[in-house]
Amino acid sequence: MRDVSLGAMAESDDTNLSAESSGADRDLFDKVVNLSKRRGIVFPSAEIYGGFRSTYDYGPVGVLMLRNVKEAWWRSMVQMRTDVVGLDAAILSPPAVWEASGHLANFSDPLVDCRNCGARHRLDKLDDPVVCPTCDARGQFTEPRQFNLMFQTHAGPVQGAGHEVYLRPETAQGMFINFANVLYTSRKKPPFGIAQIGKSFRNEITPGNFVFRTREFEQMELEFFVPPAEAQRWYEYWCDARLNWYLDHGIAPEKLRLRAHDADELSHYSSDTSDVEFLFPWGWDELEGIANRGDYDLTQHAAHSGEKLEYYDQANNERYVPHVIEPAAGATRTMMAFLMAAYDEELVNDDIRHVLRLHHRIAPYKVAVLPLSKKAELVGPCHDLFEMLAARWMVDYDETQAIGKRYRRQDEIGTPYCVTFDFDSLEDHAVTVRDRDSMEQVRLPIAELVDWLGERLT
Ligand code: GLY
Repeated sequence: MRDVSLGAMAESDDTNLSAESSGADRDLFDKVVNLSKRRGIVFPSAEIYGGFRSTYDYGPVGVLMLRNVKEAWWRSMVQMRTDVVGLDAAILSPPAVWEASGHLANFSDPLVDCRNCGARHRLDKLDDPVVCPTCDARGQFTEPRQFNLMFQTHAGPVQGAGHEVYLRPETAQGMFINFANVLYTSRKKPPFGIAQIGKSFRNEITPGNFVFRTREFEQMELEFFVPPAEAQRWYEYWCDARLNWYLDHGIAPEKLRLRAHDADELSHYSSDTSDVEFLFPWGWDELEGIANRGDYDLTQHAAHSGEKLEYYDQANNERYVPHVIEPAAGATRTMMAFLMAAYDEELVNDDIRHVLRLHHRIAPYKVAVLPLSKKAELVGPCHDLFEMLAARWMVDYDETQAIGKRYRRQDEIGTPYCVTFDFDSLEDHAVTVRDRDSMEQVRLPIAELVDWLGERLT
């Protein structure tokens, strides 16, 4: 199998770390990218064909971690709330949706071509708007033109005008066009929200920085519908709540901040936006935007579809179009932030230990079951142990190599607890449990193991 080099995995994009950053922690970036490839977290897509620019596949460990990021979001945003319900809307949608939402007219970036080297750049991302970062030529850019970021395709056998469909560039519109369906079937009333996790697609001019900006990505979005007079209060509520979510999941406060957008940064639908930003190796960058979308979307869809999209407040005999507060997070870039924040190295017995100090909820595996040797007398009971724990948590099972090496492998993918079954276990029905962060070991009766882990893996 041809192996795309690790460097190529992170640098095959127009915008790589060194181009975007000054004083960046290049070392941390490289270490996390290398770990991701080495331990089956993220692979470059279509690797056997040389890789497909700026798309990535999530490997056996990465798929678990990405699911945990999404599960943690869903748990906080839907499961633990009485005022939010979920939705899973279609990815393909007709032009009418994007005409109404304003994306056909406005969802574009300013693009310039360098006459000297032919490179294409996003004008608003250039350090100097007249200098080409590819060839350093000055004053060689064409006039900027607006480049629409939506992917267009055709549904059915006929191509051409009238048959276009779009891959959604945000999951949000699925919530707006289903507003009335959800309102009537869920019997919720404002303030209430509709949450969705799913893939979105943007034909980015400058994808880059590993999985940070890719053309295919996953969003975790909430559209929270509120009485107009309460919009500011809920905007502030969601800014706080979303910042706290990252803190609660183990990211250090000094790596997080909330930044309000300047007027010229606002999207066409937003009157106020704040970003939750993470201190990535290339500097502060967005994890999530919390936007006050006002009544823009529901009003637009009502006007374009002819359907009433409003709420009748019986108690006050009042009809209104709810305003929308939208916390919109990127699942894949959030996973990357968790990886960057959790990566640690320490010297143990003259050897460097690499460890991902991930929050238990985000860790790919919660427990690893390790027979001390591959002898059948240990492997059999270990399978029983695995089944007992796997009924409750995602558990890894590993019987290869020396036990010390296996501990280190689990440290590298952030497994909070390793359970070792040894020859004494056959007699005393107890196992050794090792803690990832402290490396301390305790001996526990197997009969107490599920409760002991349950108290720590809540
Ligand atoms: N729905 C907001 C965004 O996609 O950024």
